[in-house]
Amino acid sequence: MKDSLKQHFPIYSHTPNLVYLDSGASALKPQVVVDKVKEYYEQYGVNIHRGLYEASDRATTEHDNARGIVAQFINAEPEEIVFTYGTTHGLNMLATSLGQSLKKGDNIVLTTWEHHANLIPWQQIAKKTSVELRFIDIDDDYQIDLEDAKKKIDSHTKIVSFAHVSNTLGSKAPAEELIVLAKQVNAITIIDAAQSIVHLKTDVKKLDVDFLVFSGHKLYGPTGIGVLYGKKEKLALLSPVTFGGDMILDVSYEQAEWNDVPYRFEPGTPNIAGAIGLGAAVKFIESIGLQHIQKRETKLTNYLIVQLSSLPNVQIIGSSQSNKHHGVVSITIEGIHTHDIAEICNRHNVAIRVGSHCAMPLMKKLGLPGGTARFSVGMYTDKDDVDKAILALEDAIRIFS
Ligand code: ALA
Repeated sequence: MKDSLKQHFPIYSHTPNLVYLDSGASALKPQVVVDKVKEYYEQYGVNIHRGLYEASDRATTEHDNARGIVAQFINAEPEEIVFTYGTTHGLNMLATSLGQSLKKGDNIVLTTWEHHANLIPWQQIAKKTSVELRFIDIDDDYQIDLEDAKKKIDSHTKIVSFAHVSNTLGSKAPAEELIVLAKQVNAITIIDAAQSIVHLKTDVKKLDVDFLVFSGHKLYGPTGIGVLYGKKEKLALLSPVTFGGDMILDVSYEQAEWNDVPYRFEPGTPNIAGAIGLGAAVKFIESIGLQHIQKRETKLTNYLIVQLSSLPNVQIIGSSQSNKHHGVVSITIEGIHTHDIAEICNRHNVAIRVGSHCAMPLMKKLGLPGGTARFSVGMYTDKDDVDKAILALEDAIRIFS
């Protein structure tokens, strides 16, 4: 463990036998993040933007610094970063706000692999406005079907919103191509980067996307903090959907004038510790090197797929090519319910996620009522973890055969 990246994650000192293969649900937290959050609560745990005293100044500065760190990480400007409570919150904000200008005859284009967070908010808008929801299908190799995208995106499309990496299949969407198609019809583009941000270098300028959302806790940061990136000119046009203190410049009993972007989207006391912790998480990732992490994870995912493929009755629900899996490998085992797989894995201290992974329509479409057993890796995952998971699966197959 001394040379392993596990040494940075205190959970392994508390639970040395843990085989954590559920980073897709939430990544473990490194010591530096825990320390930074603790430092805030211990040394200057007060509100931002409000107090003319030292602790409040420090809290404001650290919070601003975190915004800058996150902005740099995705090649954005600090004022293009809105702190949210997570991906779900960011997508709800966008759907509620953008939904206000939609009307019957318009359509919103998603994909068939969306997480509920990028589906249900749009369903609600569609119900209110009678706009049509369209879904770009996947092909036989579980990849986005670009030909289908060309059919679904048309001159009535107002919004194209998609997960950059499927949390169930591990497949990566052809983001650049989808964005070009959307721009040809002047549609607004949104990327749900919840699963991709930790595995892929994300450059919002290169992607030329209008909005992009992600969560801190899948990026080795705290829970309850997330990011909504918006191009400056797009954020300026977005109307706030939650209201209260700190998001205004001037208020009378009758009306209010919004604060500048991004503050107009952050009413009330935000998750200050979360934002500061997220800044520390990003700095930590950069100190290890995202490229280095990617290389490790790719090698390990390949190994995981080879090992899983060697087991009897195992079907990989995802691409046949291992380099098309980004941090996630889903399987089913013939004759064993996914919950039984999880239960046997748990007996071996192997933590995985099973079920529909909040992508129930995709599971129904694939004819998988029990969903899949999903193995997802993080920077700390090593070959030993994979070997232990394979032993657990062998045990499950032996018990249920
Ligand atoms: N969205 C998270 C997952 O895929 C929770 O597990």
